[in-house]
Amino acid sequence: MCKLEDSNEKIEVKEGNWVTRMKFLGEVRVGNTKFFTASHAKLKLWILRAITTLLLWTCIIQLVALGEVWGPNLLKSWPSCSNPPDARTEANVSFPSRKVQLPPKRVYKNNGYLLVSCNGGLNQMRAAICDMVAIARHLNVTLIVPELDKTSFWADPSNFQDIFDVDHFISSLRDEVRILKELPPGLKRKVELGMFYELPPISWSNISYYHQQILPLLKRHKVVRLNRTDARLANNDLPFEIQKLRCRVNFHSLRFTARIEEMGRKLVRILRQNGPFLVLHLRYEMDMLSFSGCTRGCSNEEVDELTRMRHANPWWKEKAIDSELKRREGLCPLTPEEAALVLTALGIDHNVQIYIAAGEIYSQERRLRPLAAAFRNLVSNISRLFASLY
Ligand SMILES: *[C@@H]1O[C@H](CO)[C@@H](O)[C@H](O)[C@H]1NC(C)=O
Ligand SMILES: *[C@@H]1O[C@H](CO)[C@@H](O)[C@H](O)[C@H]1NC(C)=O
Ligand SMILES: *[C@@H]1O[C@H](CO)[C@@H](O)[C@H](O)[C@H]1NC(C)=O
Ligand SMILES: *[C@@H]1O[C@H](CO)[C@@H](O)[C@H](O)[C@H]1NC(C)=O
Ligand SMILES: *[C@@H]1O[C@H](CO)[C@@H](O)[C@H](O)[C@H]1NC(C)=O
Repeated sequence: MCKLEDSNEKIEVKEGNWVTRMKFLGEVRVGNTKFFTASHAKLKLWILRAITTLLLWTCIIQLVALGEVWGPNLLKSWPSCSNPPDARTEANVSFPSRKVQLPPKRVYKNNGYLLVSCNGGLNQMRAAICDMVAIARHLNVTLIVPELDKTSFWADPSNFQDIFDVDHFISSLRDEVRILKELPPGLKRKVELGMFYELPPISWSNISYYHQQILPLLKRHKVVRLNRTDARLANNDLPFEIQKLRCRVNFHSLRFTARIEEMGRKLVRILRQNGPFLVLHLRYEMDMLSFSGCTRGCSNEEVDELTRMRHANPWWKEKAIDSELKRREGLCPLTPEEAALVLTALGIDHNVQIYIAAGEIYSQERRLRPLAAAFRNLVSNISRLFASLY
């Protein structure tokens, strides 16, 4: 966030400099004779400097102006920062209205239609969407806007377009892959009748798996639905173009809707009113503890509850877990107590606001107490934070 603000400040400072230099130059011209004889060479140097500065700033101003027209690629890497945080822009940010020159459509022979049903929390699904775009691109198929998981622990009923700017997602990737909001009518009817192929792809596969196993299915059945997406593409040793595309999807094409952006901006504004803040993603929520089996510091009842939850989940394969062993292997999330120790060891000011960006902490009341004792300004309840605004 601060990156562009910093550079804005720099621009202001430099512009100020530039103004004083121009003034100085003017004065020099006015009081010509005295100064001229005193130091001819020095004056020449100053004029040269002033002209160079003027030229440089003209160029920069031109570039900024072009950036406004051309949108994201030029000086626009941090879209949320390019708007000064005043109430006007904060209240109504409408990204689609921004003029963006669309890349040319990529022309290719379509090998079929890929439906994907993402699973897991938002972060996991976001990573999966990046994978699926890369897969669709490399198989030359048409991707249908991914379905989001509504049955995960988070029970979030949102669809893709509730969270992400779907038109931007489609148009910003049109030079790579064709993405549609839904199947063409004929195919849609077939799918409704169950005439399509469905499978969960094998975890951590590389792109050759998709070429060798999934592409023939797409060609044969026309429509294939991948019904799980978590970690379905390897992280390492993939061709550079695939990694590059994944990053492009993540950092440029998956943009939150204006409403969410607006809320984020509001949140940051409220936090800033009370000075600097630190955001801690304390992943100490019930699902994480249940899934990982890390129960250090939990009561017997809590351990039972977490274990029951794990055994009831058909997707969490590892059922019997030795919490202490896992912990010794370094495979557990930090407990809130440990997080407090780490932050203290890092020399974080004990008065700084710490915003807990996470779902409800498991046994929040009790477990956050040591962290709250070490850091007085803990913000863990977003509803209360927003309530304080009105
Ligand atoms: C923002 O825009 C929406 C719809 O365009 C409108 O209903 C709303 O009143 C606007 N909010 C403000 C604060 O201007
Ligand atoms: C995808 O299309 C490109 C260009 O149209 C072609 O070179 C490539 O071989 C195609 N790949 C597949 C898997 O169809
Ligand atoms: C995915 O599809 C396979 C094959 O049809 C099926 O056995 C499996 O239960 C499905 N998984 C989900 C999560 O729907
Ligand atoms: C992809 O994985 C397969 C089997 O897991 C392996 O044999 C192959 O070398 C890998 N291909 C690439 C390009 O890494
Ligand atoms: C957060 O604050 C709201 C309003 O003050 C309250 O109703 C709610 O119970 C709090 N939630 C938690 C998890 O403490």
